[in-house]
Amino acid sequence: MQSASAIAHPNIAFIKYWGNRDDNLRLPENGSISMNLDGLSTRTQVTFSAGLPSDRFTLNGVSVTGPGLERVSRFLDLFRRLSGVQLPAEVQSTNDFPTGAGIASSAAAFSALSQAAAAALDLSLTDQQLSRLARRGSGSACRSVPGGFVEWLPGGSDEDSFAVSIAPPDHWDLTDCIAIVSNRHKPVGSTAGHALAKTSPLQAARVADTPRRLEICRSAILQRDFDALSSVVELDSNLMHAVMMSSTPPLFYWEPASLNVMKSVPFWRKHGVPACYTLDAGPNVHVICPSAAAGTVCQRLEQIPGVMRVLKAGVGGPARRLDPSLV
Ligand code: DP6
Repeated sequence: MQSASAIAHPNIAFIKYWGNRDDNLRLPENGSISMNLDGLSTRTQVTFSAGLPSDRFTLNGVSVTGPGLERVSRFLDLFRRLSGVQLPAEVQSTNDFPTGAGIASSAAAFSALSQAAAAALDLSLTDQQLSRLARRGSGSACRSVPGGFVEWLPGGSDEDSFAVSIAPPDHWDLTDCIAIVSNRHKPVGSTAGHALAKTSPLQAARVADTPRRLEICRSAILQRDFDALSSVVELDSNLMHAVMMSSTPPLFYWEPASLNVMKSVPFWRKHGVPACYTLDAGPNVHVICPSAAAGTVCQRLEQIPGVMRVLKAGVGGPARRLDPSLV
């Protein structure tokens, strides 16, 4: 029996990944930048054992079968191939945040699973190799392997498409105030969404302009320039949602309450409260602000009609191995 555990954080993208050049290898159309979310986490234990009839996967105590289990099995095959160990595995994973509602649970999941599977099989891999492997499970998971503020270098092949840290967690004290407007599972997941991106006539223009936005975002982070960060983060989210809404079939991830938040935040900013919004493939709105403003921002968000509750997350560290007793 070979077993190990790991923890990883989800991340929120400032510059979004939307659309693949290669769906199978998850090679993205464009680079992306994100911040890991401290306080929200996925803990995963993997046990490879000859005593199991086949792979098993439990998420938050509930057994997962069908496509969810197949995705995990196919992912574990990569590790079995690398190690030469051909044993079935049991994967037990728990999230301390709502699954499937715009907080990228697959990012934390596949990042934690990469760490745990590599450790269980005694594979000594570099962070770069782990990030490449995590990417194969879920693209954005490659950004949850390194810590802090992270950039996914899109690359052109499996070998050179991975994420690197551009600044450590303590570089800039930011908070993500996540306005939860729905707990429902999204009807169209990211994987199906990426495949539709190319049907939007706006996608080519979004992708062509990405190096410019990446540069603005990267220097805003390095210089801790919140005004510059705000404009590029909101623009990038709007561009991705414009692509989603103009795909065939169109994807509408917002709820009316999402728009309430999107209209309030720039108004607050104009009146001296530093904050900006961004939405992934779901209706919940991530409102990023310097931590000193987080109390005010959360209080205001809670008063917006349709906001059910607000989660707070600082800047998170990398995926890491856990002592089995802590799982
Ligand atoms: C909108 O990484 O969840 O959150 O590779 O199919 O699992 P798969 O997609 P995923 O896509 C993330 C899309 C996004 C933007 C982002 O996080 O960059």
